[in-house]
Amino acid sequence: MSCSDCDRAVQAACAACGGTVRSVVCLGDRPLANALLTSRHDEVLRYPLHVVQCAACKAVQLITQVSPAVLFGGYPYYSSQSLTMCDSAGQLVNRLCDDWALGRTHHAVEIGSNDGYLLAHYAHRGVPVLGFDPADGPADVAEARGVRTERVFFDADVGHAHAGCASIVHANNVLAHVPNPSSVIEGVAAMLRPGGLFVIETPWLRALLHACEFDTIYHEHRWYWSLTALRPLLRSHGLTIDAVELLPIHGGSLRVFASRSMSGQNASVPEHDIDTMLDSFALDVDDHVAELSAWWAELQEHGEVAGYGAAAKATMLCTAAGLSPSFVVDSTPAKQQRWMPDVDAQVVSPSELTRRQPANCVIFAWNFAAEIAAKARTYVDNGGALWVPMPHPSKVSR
Ligand code: TMP
Ligand code: ZN
Repeated sequence: MSCSDCDRAVQAACAACGGTVRSVVCLGDRPLANALLTSRHDEVLRYPLHVVQCAACKAVQLITQVSPAVLFGGYPYYSSQSLTMCDSAGQLVNRLCDDWALGRTHHAVEIGSNDGYLLAHYAHRGVPVLGFDPADGPADVAEARGVRTERVFFDADVGHAHAGCASIVHANNVLAHVPNPSSVIEGVAAMLRPGGLFVIETPWLRALLHACEFDTIYHEHRWYWSLTALRPLLRSHGLTIDAVELLPIHGGSLRVFASRSMSGQNASVPEHDIDTMLDSFALDVDDHVAELSAWWAELQEHGEVAGYGAAAKATMLCTAAGLSPSFVVDSTPAKQQRWMPDVDAQVVSPSELTRRQPANCVIFAWNFAAEIAAKARTYVDNGGALWVPMPHPSKVSR
């Protein structure tokens, strides 16, 4: 595979530290995964998707940053569509409120607060909240549920403008997305009150490599974090990692608790094999794509194949392995009636699954397989077969 960045793959400078990089994998010139088309034959814009690793700071990243305004302009992603996300956020917030006795005199902040799926839990506990998110649709939903939201791309300047405002700052699934992580962390450090806590959740590079989750590599995900790369970045802004948890969410995520405590604690997770896994990743992806294509061809022999979840990773999986679902169901109203770029499949309401009853349906949003399987029970009862494509194609048993 080759992309328009291939020539730069070893000359580009690391966007975090300016160090030299090595090529990890090229996934070609590909459409923006969340840029669903309004009509079937709309023009599709494609951008290079080439992953490199910095030799100096170890940060794994895409070479090209697509303009955030292009990426997140009409962003159709609403976190609250996934109960799993809301529950996970709710449990975390309740735990933090209890452990830290958070209440009316505190202030909870989230950067990339989306539709308020996390901060709403704080508001419910009586803790004042402030969210930062540039996407208008999700921010409207957040405001409607009482989550005050500033519609900006958060960076150091925004953080300094709110210096000392936060008892706790969350960065949930946002450090992978930002053009300049150092600027974001500087802004967070500025907002933290003395004794304040910074909680990060982000997909874990080691989990991505281990399960070959190549479909989670897309333009919105500029960074693929390991603790090895995150730790020095936090430290450069005076923050220490006090604790780390590994979560199953999104195929394997890191949850990092950091503060200015200088506790001397150096929480860690095993990452010694990451460089070796990066060495073989490009070949792993080729094997995986071949496996997926062969499996899909077999499914198609039995009639229509539908998809469940018009997630960004659905576009990536389908375009990489040449999968062509007849249609894709998704509960997000903003995605319905639109078309997946380069996939030629329309996104429709989940009720279409039982109405059209295709022989097979593949859960593209495999990170929410349990939640989706529960919703697709009638489809299965009526004889439909439900599959997950990752880490390897397998049928979901009832
Ligand atoms: P994500 O993996 O990028 O979070 O996207 C998951 C997609 O799946 C999102 O478009 C919402 C959709 N979805 C459903 O349609 N039904 C569901 O039950 C769940 C959990 C997600
Ligand atoms: Zn390339």
